[in-house]
Amino acid sequence: MMQEGGYYCSKKTDDICEDVCGQESTRGALSMSRLRCILRGLDFKSYVLLFIIVPMCILGIYIHGQKITYFLRPIWESPPKPFIEIPHYYHENVSMENLCKLHGWGIRESPRRVFDAVLFSNEVDILSIRWNELYPYITQFVLLESNSTFTGLPKPLVFATNRDKFKFVKSRLTYGTIGGRFKKGENPFVEEAYQRVALDQLLRIAGITDDDLLIMSDVDEIPSRHTINLLRWCDETPAVLHLRLRNYLYSFEFLLDNKSWRASVHRYQTGKTRYAHYRQTDYILSDSGWHCSFCFRRISEFIFKMKAYSHNDRVRFSHYLNPSRIQDVICRGADLFDMLPEEYTFKEIIGKLGPIPHSYSAVHLPGHLLQNADKYKYLLPGNCKRERG
Ligand SMILES: *[C@@H]1O[C@H](CO)[C@@H](O)[C@H](O)[C@H]1NC(C)=O
Ligand SMILES: *[C@@H]1O[C@H](CO)[C@@H](O)[C@H](O)[C@H]1NC(C)=O
Ligand SMILES: *[C@@H]1O[C@H](CO)[C@@H](O)[C@H](O)[C@H]1NC(C)=O
Repeated sequence: MMQEGGYYCSKKTDDICEDVCGQESTRGALSMSRLRCILRGLDFKSYVLLFIIVPMCILGIYIHGQKITYFLRPIWESPPKPFIEIPHYYHENVSMENLCKLHGWGIRESPRRVFDAVLFSNEVDILSIRWNELYPYITQFVLLESNSTFTGLPKPLVFATNRDKFKFVKSRLTYGTIGGRFKKGENPFVEEAYQRVALDQLLRIAGITDDDLLIMSDVDEIPSRHTINLLRWCDETPAVLHLRLRNYLYSFEFLLDNKSWRASVHRYQTGKTRYAHYRQTDYILSDSGWHCSFCFRRISEFIFKMKAYSHNDRVRFSHYLNPSRIQDVICRGADLFDMLPEEYTFKEIIGKLGPIPHSYSAVHLPGHLLQNADKYKYLLPGNCKRERG
C-alpha cells in the first residue's frame, strides 16, 4: 500500500504513514488519518504548490507588497496635472532690473518684506544653513515647535535647547511652542494640520501684513538666496508660486532628481492665505534651491525621523531601524524603507531602480555650507559616515 503516492515520505516517516493509513486507528484518530490519506493522494507537484509556493507568495506579498503596488502604480494612478514651468534666469552680474525683465516682470521701487515660516522638528544643522542662506532678505523668521511629533511621540523642544546657535537672527525671530495633543492611533496628518494652523497665528503675531511675501516650506526645503531676492524685487510675480528644488537624499552627494515642488512663496492676503504644504497653484519657478531629505549628522536622528514622520507606517520591520543597516544604506544611496521610487510611469520607475548615483559636484550649494565645510562635512560628497548614537 506504500507503492503509490508514498514516495514523498522520507524513510523515517514511512512508519508513521503506514501506521496512520493502516486500518488499526482508533476512532479519535480516524478523521485525522483520513486527512493525511487525502494529502497522500495528492501528487508531488500539488504538494509543492500547496505548502511551498503558496506560503512563499503570501510571504512575498507581505514583504514586498509596497513594491508590487508601487511598480503597478502607472496602471492604477495617473500622474498629477503637470506644472507650468517658469524659466529661471540668474547670474550674479546681471542687474535686478534685467533679471526681472527676463522673467517678464517689472521692477519695484523697494523690495517687499519677506517672512520665512517653518515647523521645526530636530534638524538643527539644516536650519542653520537655511537661515544663513536667507538671512539678508528676511524680515522675520517665524519658527514653531511642538513637544509632539506628527505621529504623537513626545519630543524635546530641540530649538529651545539650541537657541544660542541662532543668536544671529535674534532681532528677527518670532518663536512659538505648542503642546501636542498626543492622540493615540490618529492619522499623523491631523496633528500636522493642527500645527500649521498654529503657525498661521504665529505669523500674525510676527506682524505679517497684506502683500508681504511668505515662504511656506519644510525646514529642509531651502530656497536659494537669489531666488528670494528676485521675488521680493520684481512686480507682477504670480500671487502664489511653487519653487522647484533639487532633491537630495542624506547629503549633497546624492542628487535624486530636480522634482521637489512643495515649497511655495505667497503674496500674503489676510484671511485668505493659509499655511499649507500641498499643491496650491499650477505655476512653478525652475531651479530655485535645494531640498535635502534625511540630511542628519547622527544615526540616532535618522531613527527618530523614521519613527516620527508622517509616513511612519513605512517602518514595516524593526530591522529597518538597525544602526548598521542605516549606515550601510546611507553610504550606498539606497532607500531606508526599501521602497520603490514613487513615480507614475514605468520608464521613470525603472530609470530610478537601485541606489542613487554619487554626485561629486559641490558647485552651487548653500554658501554657509561651504564656508563651514569642516563643521558640515557629512553633507558634502565623499563623507557618508555618520556619528553613532
Ligand atoms: C561682475 O561684477 C563685478 C563687480 O561689479 C566685477 O568686479 C566682475 O569683474 C564682474 N564679473 C564678470 C564675469 O563680469
Ligand atoms: C507638552 O506641552 C504642553 C504645553 O506646554 C504641556 O502641558 C504638556 O505637559 C507637554 N507634554 C509633554 C509630554 O511634554
Ligand atoms: C538637475 O538640474 C541640474 C541643473 O539644472 C542639472 O545639472 C542636473 O543634472 C539635474 N539632475 C537631474 C537628476 O535631473
